[in-house]
Amino acid sequence: MDNQKRIVLTGFMGVGKSTVARHLAFILRTGRIDLDSVIEAREKQTIAEIIKTSGEQRFRQIETETLRKILSEDSTRILALGGGAWTIAENRRLIKTQNCTSVWLESSFEHCWRNIKSSKRERPLAKNKVQAKKLFDERQDYYCLTDWHFIVKPDLTSYEIAKKIAEEVFSIKFD
Ligand code: S3P
Repeated sequence: MDNQKRIVLTGFMGVGKSTVARHLAFILRTGRIDLDSVIEAREKQTIAEIIKTSGEQRFRQIETETLRKILSEDSTRILALGGGAWTIAENRRLIKTQNCTSVWLESSFEHCWRNIKSSKRERPLAKNKVQAKKLFDERQDYYCLTDWHFIVKPDLTSYEIAKKIAEEVFSIKFD
């Protein structure tokens, strides 16, 4: 594995992408970016506000523009996407053409849903369990298109998952 490659984390809402990205950045002693946080800083609105006031389609445009800008102007090694970003063909194309390794953090729907429910963050695309499950099912085929796949079991901490990624993707050995 080319150690300068950027790593892009994807997976359903509530799987823990941002937290795993934070641990992975710590382990690899490198920087990390959260796509949604960059969008919020740029738009001066939360993601939920953008979706509620301008609609999901506008949010997706902003998401792609921001992703393109990050990938072309910023060399930060770890990038956590929002759960829907990888499902957009243009985003996958951008990621594939920019020396990135994509990683899917997979978990059961129930695990993600528990985290969505207990989180303070508003997620307008997962307002109820039925809506969230439908999205979850629709997205599995897209997540399968990533380069790497890690199963997030409830008994593993985010740090342990980040360690597994570092071991397997970057061949880093831990004692
Ligand atoms: C979305 C996931 C969210 C955020 C937005 C849309 C999605 O990010 O980008 O609410 O479509 O799955 P998280 O996966 O970090 O919750």
